This record gives sequence, structure tokens and C-alpha cells, in this order.
Amino acid sequence: MGTNKVIVTGGLGYIGSHTAVELSEKFQVVIVDDLSNSSIEVLDGISKISNSTPIFEKLDLKIKKDVKKLFDKHNDAIGLIHFAAFKAVGESVEKPLNYYENNLSSLIYILQEIDNRNLLLNLIFSSSCTVYGQAESLPITEEESIKKAESPYGNTKQISEEILFDYARTNPKINITSLRYFNPIGAHHSTNIGELPLGIPGNLVPFITQTAAGIHEKLTVFGNDYNTPDGTCVRDYIHVMDLAKAHIIALEHLIQKRNQDNYSVYNIGTGKGSSVLEVIECFVKNTRVKLNYVIGKRRVGDIESAYADNTKAKEELKWTPKYSLDDAILSAWKWEKKVRNI
Ligand code: UD1
Repeated sequence: MGTNKVIVTGGLGYIGSHTAVELSEKFQVVIVDDLSNSSIEVLDGISKISNSTPIFEKLDLKIKKDVKKLFDKHNDAIGLIHFAAFKAVGESVEKPLNYYENNLSSLIYILQEIDNRNLLLNLIFSSSCTVYGQAESLPITEEESIKKAESPYGNTKQISEEILFDYARTNPKINITSLRYFNPIGAHHSTNIGELPLGIPGNLVPFITQTAAGIHEKLTVFGNDYNTPDGTCVRDYIHVMDLAKAHIIALEHLIQKRNQDNYSVYNIGTGKGSSVLEVIECFVKNTRVKLNYVIGKRRVGDIESAYADNTKAKEELKWTPKYSLDDAILSAWKWEKKVRNI
């Protein structure tokens, strides 16, 4: 013990890379990634920002012996942040077994290694507000009931949380926090790292920035007949750097043993809901770039409104988001321009 080494699985992905940058200010970062949905260049972006190169391990965590290798080498880590997972909702409906295999076996193997080696580890799990589905009451608190998941992807998040809860009860030495993210958007202000969706993006903000960059002819707003102020769906968009910071604060909270139970969950959102049309307006107002859009049909499986009650994270973790929607949208646009050489 006595090191300040933190393992970040999926550390070359969108949220993982931004978290690795924030972490590197205080910790020695070990990034694990199988490069199945990320690129090794992201490591250069992280190194540029943080002026140091994280240790990088190319390992596939759904392979048990790779997980063993990771802990053979880094059994002195004090923390592990587990991002590595597939996350495309549509693809998960088409290939459920891939999602269950990848997202669940990696988690189980990591916990088995921790258990076999009797490690004193602090673990942060990357969960999602998707576990709530359409909530009964808004804003959504952590007390909200968990409904049947809309997709295999969502189900892997629910099952992972249950696995962590059950395991934590058997091992008082482990400390676990699940962070339920709302909608992360934006990029590091340096534009050295950002979101790099493969293929046509399913998420709103990358679709907006790509359309403005001329990659798509137009954006389709998925329905304007919802029971919301302007008829379009409402979400809680959070700057990825605020989200990254939440991981560092949550990890320190565990390391300093300030948690009451050895398993906790926190909503990580801004607490403010924005409609699709508000996000579009925000983009146009801040960038002065024209955005071609049409109103289309509802997207199957979409929920009407979701935004966080973030009181628990604010009070217990002392985490507060500091970026506005304008900041986040502008950073997303800056990143898109850099990627497209505009
Ligand atoms: C989606 C996933 C969710 C996942 C999250 C990760 C679905 C149903 N849900 O959430 O499980 O955790 O991403 O970030 O896919 N929109 C448009 N036009 C577009 C794209 C999106 O109008 O081209 C609208 C959507 O209808 C929605 C809002 O924009 O109202 C946000 O969509 P999106 O970015 O896909 O996020 P979620 O649906 O909240």
C-alpha cells in the first residue's frame, strides 16, 4: 500500500479520458483499454494536457487471464474506476449477448480478482440515469424506483449495480460508489480530447455539431408532441469535465473513508432540464452557426423527461457542477471544428 495508483478501465473512451486527465493531477493513472471502441491517439491527448504519460495496458477485461495480468502488475492500486463497457442502446437490442458478456463478465472478473487477493480497494462504477427509465417524479432522486430496463444496455447497468451491492455486503473491506450519469456532453477546453463517436452518432450533441460541420444534411428532432413546455424531450446535459471531477471527488471520499456504507449511489447531473429545442437554440446562439433541422417522429424507447436531483452528491460529496450548458455546447463545437479541420 501507500501508493497513489488508480486504475481507469476504458480510460481511452469519452468519459474515461476526461477523468484520466483530472485524476492525473493527484494520482498515478493506469489506463486499461482494449481499443475496441477507442483509439490509441487519445493517450497522446491525455499526455499533452497532463504533461505526463499515464501507464497504458492494452487488455481485454472480458478475458479472465487479462484481468489477472492487470492485478499481477498493479495490485498496489488504491482505486479503480470502471468505465470499460459497450454503450450503444440500439446495438444492444440487436446483440444482447455481446452486451451481457462484455459488460458483466469484466465486472465480475475484476471483483473476483479483488476478492481473491484480498485487496483494499476503492471502486467507482460508471452507471447511468437510464436505470430510472421514465421516473414517477422529477427531478429524479436516488430513491426513485428502478423499473424494468428498456434495453439490454440499460439492463447491464442495473445488473452491474446489483452485483456490486450484493458483493459489497460480503466484503466489508471494499468501498464502492456507483455514479449515475445524466447526459454528458462537451470536451476538454484544450480540444486535445473529446467525444469521438464511431459511425452516425445516436446522441443529440454530437449529431448537432456534425450537422453544423456539414457531415449530415439535417438534424431530426425526435418528436415535438411530448408533455413538456415546448413538446420536445427534456434531459439534464452535464459538461464532461464536471462529470470527470465528480469521479475524483467520489474516489477521494472513499479513500478518506467518509462514506457511511460500503456501497453508495449518486446522481451526477446539473439538476437543470433542457429540451431538444433549447439545446439547438443554445448551439445557434453561442456559435452563430446555422443548424438545419426538421421535426420528425418520436424515437422508440425515448423517455419524456429526465433531470437529476443532485442534492445527495452536493451534500455528501461536496461536488457542484460549475459549467453551464453554453460552456458545454461551445466546448463540443470547438472540439468538432478541431476534428474536422474547420
Ligand atoms: C441515450 C440512451 C441512454 C444512454 C445515454 C448516454 C437511448 C434511448 N438512451 O440517452 O440509455 O445512457 O444516451 O448518453 O438511446 N435527439 C433528437 N435527435 C437526434 C438525437 C437525439 O431529437 O438526432 C433527442 C432524443 O430524442 C432525446 C435527446 O435528444 O430527447 C437526447 O438524446 P440522446 O443524446 O440520445 O440521449 P438519451 O436519449 O437521453
